[in-house]
Amino acid sequence: MTDTKLRTSRMHLLFILPLVLEVQSISMNHNFTCDCSCHMELKSADCANSNFTRLPIALPPFTEQLDLSCNNLSTIQPRAFQTTRRLRVLFLNDNAIYMLADGAFYLLEDLLRLDLSRNRISSLSEGFSQGLSSLRDLSLAENNLTSLNSSYFVHLDALQRLDLSHNSIETIGMRAFGSMSTLRQIKLDWNNITVLKNGIFSMLRNLEVLNLSFNQIYRLDVGVLSPLTSLALLDLNNNSFTTIEFMTFLSLNTYSTHILLQNNNWECVCDLQRVFRKLCNVKRLFLDDCEICIQKPSDELDPCIGEMVTVLVITITVIITVVAAIVMAEKKRGKKNKEKHWTEASELMPANE
Ligand SMILES: *[C@@H]1O[C@H](CO)[C@@H](O)[C@H](O)[C@H]1NC(C)=O
Ligand SMILES: *[C@@H]1O[C@H](CO)[C@@H](O)[C@H](O)[C@H]1NC(C)=O
Ligand SMILES: *[C@@H]1O[C@H](CO)[C@@H](O)[C@H](O)[C@H]1NC(C)=O
Ligand SMILES: *[C@@H]1O[C@H](CO)[C@@H](O)[C@H](O)[C@H]1NC(C)=O
Ligand SMILES: *[C@@H]1O[C@H](CO)[C@@H](O)[C@H](O)[C@H]1NC(C)=O
Ligand SMILES: *[C@@H]1O[C@H](CO)[C@@H](O)[C@H](O)[C@H]1NC(C)=O
Ligand SMILES: *[C@@H]1O[C@H](CO)[C@@H](O)[C@H](O)[C@H]1NC(C)=O
Ligand SMILES: *[C@@H]1O[C@H](CO)[C@@H](O)[C@H](O)[C@H]1NC(C)=O
Repeated sequence: MTDTKLRTSRMHLLFILPLVLEVQSISMNHNFTCDCSCHMELKSADCANSNFTRLPIALPPFTEQLDLSCNNLSTIQPRAFQTTRRLRVLFLNDNAIYMLADGAFYLLEDLLRLDLSRNRISSLSEGFSQGLSSLRDLSLAENNLTSLNSSYFVHLDALQRLDLSHNSIETIGMRAFGSMSTLRQIKLDWNNITVLKNGIFSMLRNLEVLNLSFNQIYRLDVGVLSPLTSLALLDLNNNSFTTIEFMTFLSLNTYSTHILLQNNNWECVCDLQRVFRKLCNVKRLFLDDCEICIQKPSDELDPCIGEMVTVLVITITVIITVVAAIVMAEKKRGKKNKEKHWTEASELMPANE
């Protein structure tokens, strides 16, 4: 064997060594304890429907998907998942959780999806989301939230989808979604929102879908939608609107937005009909139903036609008056000029009497 050959074979060995160590560590993982049904290849632990009132203590550290749904958990303590730091998906739905401690999910830096739906959460602390810097999907649907505080979602820098549907949310604080410029979808349907104030949606420049259906909204501040420059779908079905302002939707500075406005308490007076007509003529806005508030020709008496006629009559009257005034003024001037002419002429020529 030449020197070079020897060197290459040694190098091969160096390459193989880490591989051997890796295989050994995996085979050692066979010897884990698991309080649930654990699956090594899938890196999953199924602890659902097990009547747990506390978190199971023994779980393999390689677990990436942990299902703890349908148990009887009531609180999540700080660093509760510190032995399973590689979690990517965590199901905690259908428990009795009412408290998430500060740092409850601390160190779960790979977690992408967290399901907390159907629990009893009525408020969130600022620290509950500490360390969830990769989280993309968060569901808090069917809980007991009554307001959204500006401190609730401060650590969720990668969140894309937030489900808050079926709570009892009445108030949304200023900048409640403050730092979440990555958000693409918010579900707020089936809550108790009545008014949307300016400033609550600031910074949400990537938001594409906003579902606000099945609330009791009757007012939108004129500028509230203007920060949503990517909004493609706005669902306002089944709310309590009686009227809306044209500017509220015109201020949506988007490429194209579908707006759902059905099943409200529209008071279809002429002003509102005009608003809907104008909205339907804005190229970038697509109303699901342009006829919501526009009377069809078959309807016997359209009060807005009467109104239009009145406006027309007034306009014509004004125009006639103005024209008449101008004509009169012209005539007067002409007469004066003639008089002046005549006087000047009579001064030049001696009177022929
Ligand atoms: C497996 O775990 C048990 C108890 O934790 C321990 O006694 C045993 O030595 C381990 N076996 C191997 C092969 O690591
Ligand atoms: C769950 O545990 C409670 C006691 O903590 C017990 O009364 C109940 O029967 C258990 N339910 C099931 C389905 O095992
Ligand atoms: C949940 O735990 C409580 C006690 O903490 C118990 O009274 C209740 O029966 C449990 N519920 C279920 C569905 O097991
Ligand atoms: C939410 O809270 C109210 C009162 O605060 C209570 O009546 C209701 O049962 C709670 N809902 C849930 C799902 O816990
Ligand atoms: C937000 O919630 C925290 C903790 O729940 C509370 O101390 C604070 O007063 C709330 N802020 C507002 C503006 O409601
Ligand atoms: C909240 O809205 C639900 C429907 O989404 C309704 O049943 C409930 O009565 C409302 N609660 C209040 C306090 O208005
Ligand atoms: C909004 O939520 C309602 C009620 O959950 C649902 O029926 C509707 O399809 C949703 N809208 C969109 C645009 O996804
Ligand atoms: C939605 O609105 C329509 C029309 O007002 C009404 O018939 C329907 O019951 C509403 N749906 C719910 C679930 O409230």
